Amino acid sequence: MLVVIKKGYEEMSKEAARVISEIVREKPTAALGLATGSTPLGVYRELIRMHKEEGLDFSKITTFNLDEYLGLPPSHPQSYHYFMYENLFNHINVNERFVHIPSGMVDVNEIHRIHKYCDWYEDRIGEVGGIDLQLLGIGKNGHIGFNEPGSSLGALTRIKTLTENTRADNSRFFDNDIRKVPKYAITMGIGTIMNARLVLLIASGKTKAGAIKKTVEGPITAQVPASMVQMHRKAILIVDEEAGSKLDVHYERIVTDLN
Ligand code: GLP
Repeated sequence: MLVVIKKGYEEMSKEAARVISEIVREKPTAALGLATGSTPLGVYRELIRMHKEEGLDFSKITTFNLDEYLGLPPSHPQSYHYFMYENLFNHINVNERFVHIPSGMVDVNEIHRIHKYCDWYEDRIGEVGGIDLQLLGIGKNGHIGFNEPGSSLGALTRIKTLTENTRADNSRFFDNDIRKVPKYAITMGIGTIMNARLVLLIASGKTKAGAIKKTVEGPITAQVPASMVQMHRKAILIVDEEAGSKLDVHYERIVTDLN
């Protein structure tokens, strides 16, 4: 695992965007796994800038999003569909036919349909030859996508029940009313994420320092789903100084280190 500590949010975002843009330039037909949350916003801003100012071309890129809340239509401002169009897809030349975001509209009561849908999502990833780069944020409790603590470390795309902690954290996007936060989501599994050829995890701010410490230096455990990236052959963690502040190893600032 390569741990990169950058001074602040902007530097972290630019570095992550640089890694992504390298893949897009080297392999114009690459499949990118994308993430939502507030952390990737700076990365997306930088990719948009690269598209507009440097002609970074996304026309042949395929995308797969990590997750989506169940019960939210794509038009809902807090759906991850809405988020992705608003913050990235509307501003770059991605081909909509190549965009994949798990549907939030599969009926939660029809579990066999959800299973079928999730299998289809995995098949689509397989059909394009797998994900070349998977971008990840991290929850305070170490979740990635919506793989909450206790998630099976080998699971593929499936339905997950969200923890109260995560719903409380995410209630800031739902008028601070936890009752409005969906209880279920469809998410790629840790197995799906581990199948990506490169995993790029980003984190910023003090509130993520504990999760980053456990991810990098703790035991690999389903209680900290992100710790599984220790097993990945090509994982890059780009964090800012605050998110990296609890790491025991004194990584040189702004320098990279292998762990
Ligand atoms: C949600 C998303 C995760 C994201 C996490 C942290 O739960 N499903 O993919 O990493 O939030 O979000 P933020 O970056 O806003 O802290």
